[in-house]
Amino acid sequence: MAALGAAAAATGAGSLLKSTEALAMTDEEILAEALYAPRGTKGRLTRLGSFDVESRQEFTKGFRSMHRQQIRAAANEALDRLLEREGIDPTMKMDMPTLLSLVDADPAINISSHTWIANQRLTWKNLQDYFHSNEDAYLSEMEATDRKGPGSLELKPRMQLPEHVSHQIHIQPGGYVGDPFAGHMYHYGTNSFYLGGRGHNDQDQIHRSVANNLPLPKDGKVRRILDYGCGIGQFSLALKERFPDAEVWGLDIGGPMIRYGHMRASHLKYDVNFVQRLAEDNGFPDGYFDLVTSYIAHHEMPADVSRQVIAEVQRTTRPGAIYYPIDFITGGSEMIPRYMFGRWWDHRWNNERWSFEYHAMDFAAEIEARGFNKAADPKSVIRGFGIRHYIRA
Ligand SMILES: C[S@@+](CC[C@H](N)C(=O)[O-])C[C@H]1O[C@@H](n2cnc3c(N)ncnc32)[C@H](O)[C@@H]1O
Repeated sequence: MAALGAAAAATGAGSLLKSTEALAMTDEEILAEALYAPRGTKGRLTRLGSFDVESRQEFTKGFRSMHRQQIRAAANEALDRLLEREGIDPTMKMDMPTLLSLVDADPAINISSHTWIANQRLTWKNLQDYFHSNEDAYLSEMEATDRKGPGSLELKPRMQLPEHVSHQIHIQPGGYVGDPFAGHMYHYGTNSFYLGGRGHNDQDQIHRSVANNLPLPKDGKVRRILDYGCGIGQFSLALKERFPDAEVWGLDIGGPMIRYGHMRASHLKYDVNFVQRLAEDNGFPDGYFDLVTSYIAHHEMPADVSRQVIAEVQRTTRPGAIYYPIDFITGGSEMIPRYMFGRWWDHRWNNERWSFEYHAMDFAAEIEARGFNKAADPKSVIRGFGIRHYIRA
């Protein structure tokens, strides 16, 4: 076992070449490690339990990054050439059926689409197979922390879930509510999603950097914080780090998501409370929160639910509270063909079910109509997301 630990630590530090300790391992030890064994952590990320599953993840992550930089770029160029050949201005809007009929037979665009989706499926399948084939170990690990502090966990296994939360968004098997390992899969799966231009997130870097730049209410008082659609709580933990004296609540409808989030918070010793509830019916008293946030939750909700959530935030914030719901800038109807195709494709093949509804809505105007004033603090601007910080009147 000692040799096993030493080899894992050596590879965890990043260098396989220097891992001479592996030579001291017996064949049995090497095999045992290839199946399942606790292999320590890399910073705050628990390593997957086998080299096999970890290296497949590395492969799909690398492919995704290469796809983004090269294959998709080639597909975008192909689209521009197609438009040029047809005498269409690539900066003008066009209707979707015409655009689809144009791209339908283009080999570069098809290769790009097929390889991207195959890679996405492989990413999930690798994780789903792995966690399910070791389910006893991973389920008992969660059970052991369900009632452990420093924070708390409220699960509602018999809750009637509305239809809108049951989709397998970005084709994650079982979605956020339908697989006991939804949180595990989301965590390791999205680590590769984040390579798309905003850097790594395996140490919650992105969530922490956003939390560190959050604007404060004018009176500086941040006693109670709600992070809704918190998923596995990476942003909730970052908020606790930034505001250690505040009461922090991570709310999500995905029971398996917050169960994993709570386990992680417990291991990392963060006092954060996780609750399985709907953001549109959050159960907190009127005027309770000084700060309400959400990170990339709204583009995965129907527009009408987003409106209900905003109303619930209005009800549960005090005057002067900060509302900081981070998501893409809306206004999709004005898109040029390249982006339009990308969004259609993401919706159709990556099952981004609600993305068109979200983008068609004027998200900022909906918030302002609910008694919030937009505030322009340059620190609250996030690349790709614009200014998203509001003050409760
Ligand atoms: C893209 S994930 C974002 C998770 C997390 N904030 C992060 O940064 O990774 C969206 C989350 O919103 C949750 N969600 C969607 N609709 C919800 C609703 N109506 N109420 C509560 N949670 C919801 C999903 O279960 C999912 O965990």
